[in-house]
Amino acid sequence: MRVFALLLMAPMIAFAEDTPVNAGPYVPSPQSVVSDMLKLAEVGPQDFVIDLGSGDGRIVRTAALVFGARGFGVEIKDPLVRQSNAAAAREGIADRVKFIKADLFKTDISQATVLTMYLLPDTVNLLRDKLLAELRPGTRVLSHDYPLSGWIPEKYVQMDLEDKVKISGVTTTLIYLYVVPAKVEGRWQATLPDGTATLSLRQQITRVSGTARYRGKDVPLEDVKLRGERLSFRMAGRELAGRVSGAAIEGDAGAWSAQRVK
Ligand SMILES: C[S@@+](CC[C@H](N)C(=O)[O-])C[C@H]1O[C@@H](n2cnc3c(N)ncnc32)[C@H](O)[C@@H]1O
Repeated sequence: MRVFALLLMAPMIAFAEDTPVNAGPYVPSPQSVVSDMLKLAEVGPQDFVIDLGSGDGRIVRTAALVFGARGFGVEIKDPLVRQSNAAAAREGIADRVKFIKADLFKTDISQATVLTMYLLPDTVNLLRDKLLAELRPGTRVLSHDYPLSGWIPEKYVQMDLEDKVKISGVTTTLIYLYVVPAKVEGRWQATLPDGTATLSLRQQITRVSGTARYRGKDVPLEDVKLRGERLSFRMAGRELAGRVSGAAIEGDAGAWSAQRVK
């Protein structure tokens, strides 16, 4: 079917438990969008890129060919998987990228440092909790055209592309960049140069708020920001920033630290 927009309205069909959900028809991203997505995420040789529903493999292949990354694509249609692996072999990048026939909903994505997708809007949102649960903090997530609801993008770009008219009926193209946040919800015991504080943090994906018990008083945490593993806030007039690593926060320049309270 030529018009992707109509397909977007089609219900996702799972005929039986083992039949993969159709996450979207095969509609390749225009090559210029592929380049823009990878540039927006600042993909480089240190990255491992996973494309969910990889079509002809162009996102992962471009990540390897142009940006020196490694990665894999997961695709449900066997001919597209074979085509992608054959293209990677021709391009001399088969040692760095591979394409596998699998259901994207059941694929282990924990290896990604960059995850890309061009899928139906409903699918993108069905995947949101999997992305937050499986991807490491700091992983960049790129979605072509459709946002993840409730997750504030780090950046997004909008452009008009003639190529998109035959796909979606309009020229509008959007790329959303998200950064997987560390998990900070809960209580933390902080050690500061002049004493201790108990931080109580609430988290809704990237939005964090909270209070601290400090010098016998409850004080609000102000201007709390969380980007990947990086947490910063103001408490009683002082700026605190650091890196969250599992159950610990290491303050910048070793100036403070915190441990999660069980
Ligand atoms: C819109 S295309 C995107 C192709 C490629 N990512 C790109 O941007 O050029 C979506 C792809 O997802 C594949 N797909 C759909 N449901 C899938 C599933 N459950 N598991 C794996 N791949 C799936 C389709 O076969 C199709 O090739």
